[in-house]
Amino acid sequence: MKKKIVILPGDGIGKEVTTEGKRVLETIASLFGHEFEYDEAVIGHDAIEATGNPLPDETLAKLRNCDAILFGAVGHPTYDNDPSLKVRPEQGLLKMRKELGLYANLRPIKLFDELLQASAIKPEILKGSDILFFRELTGDVYFGEKGRKDDGNTAYDVMIYQRYEVERIAHKAFLAARTRKKKITSVDKANVLESSRLWRAVVQEIGKQYPDVELEHQFVDSAAMKLIQNPRSFDVVLTGNLFGDILTDEASQIAGSMGMLASASVGDTVGLYEPIHGSAHDITGKGIANPLASILSASLLLDISFGLKKESEAIIKAVESTLKAGYRTGDIADANSEKSKILNTQAMGDQIVKQLIANNEQRSTNN
Ligand code: IPM
Ligand code: MN
Repeated sequence: MKKKIVILPGDGIGKEVTTEGKRVLETIASLFGHEFEYDEAVIGHDAIEATGNPLPDETLAKLRNCDAILFGAVGHPTYDNDPSLKVRPEQGLLKMRKELGLYANLRPIKLFDELLQASAIKPEILKGSDILFFRELTGDVYFGEKGRKDDGNTAYDVMIYQRYEVERIAHKAFLAARTRKKKITSVDKANVLESSRLWRAVVQEIGKQYPDVELEHQFVDSAAMKLIQNPRSFDVVLTGNLFGDILTDEASQIAGSMGMLASASVGDTVGLYEPIHGSAHDITGKGIANPLASILSASLLLDISFGLKKESEAIIKAVESTLKAGYRTGDIADANSEKSKILNTQAMGDQIVKQLIANNEQRSTNN
């Protein structure tokens, strides 16, 4: 298969982890006989420094003209600590999502058995957890009208949803639920918010078209509690942009670490794949970031954008075997981890590549 992939490393550890994600894609291409062509572009803080724009036109043009995007992260501490700055790295990411129509953000919370001990949650509560979040990505308070009045002393961000925005992501979630446990939890705050009442009504309507899928509704505050109390009670979770942002960071603890969680952002055109973690400037340059979220994002890319199931599975297997062999990055290490098996970013990438090659040899021998 011949495909064009744009790598968008972005800022901070984004660069370090996408290097490993790309290496894994290269390994897959050579093992399975595909031809992936790569291009790179700037976004976020780096792009502001270079062009004054967090999403330069040149980057956008490249993104519109490729088959899939592997993205790292954006952000910079200067901006986090100075709310008055008008041009911000995150605007690049938000504009990219909007411009490319990436309205559905899929965040699978998959707990590898080997990491049961890495989470702060008790293993008996966690074991067997497997949740797929559908976070709406181009609406809500993120994109509603915002501004200041009263000489800057009053600020507002409008939480707004239109029917079609809820419909299209609900369809995606219901279709996914059919391939899983046929259960959806739609999360909103319909006891308070009008936009949530529209959300709930539309989801109920769409649900009628999927009578084989069980639909339940939860308020976001209660869902946040139940995620930790009984994560196994969730299968597909459908929610808006802001609630999805918050709940998926929380849910990352079910998988042991933010460093493990990959995501896919899809809509009607090209797909974008990225870790759910941010640019993490506190550890940038130390080479200790966990590259597995980026590597698992590459796995999602192969599956969702290219339909390469075997290749996508091969990456997940390689991650599984690597964890089974005891290798860890610092964020997922626990008291039982052997010191010599605590790896830096690149060494973890090396292990995954080695494991892909070893598993592939085994596959060829078996055939
Ligand atoms: C995410 C991030 C972004 C978001 C930030 C960086 C704008 O937290 O992808 O979850 O809030 O959507
Ligand atoms: Mn987030």
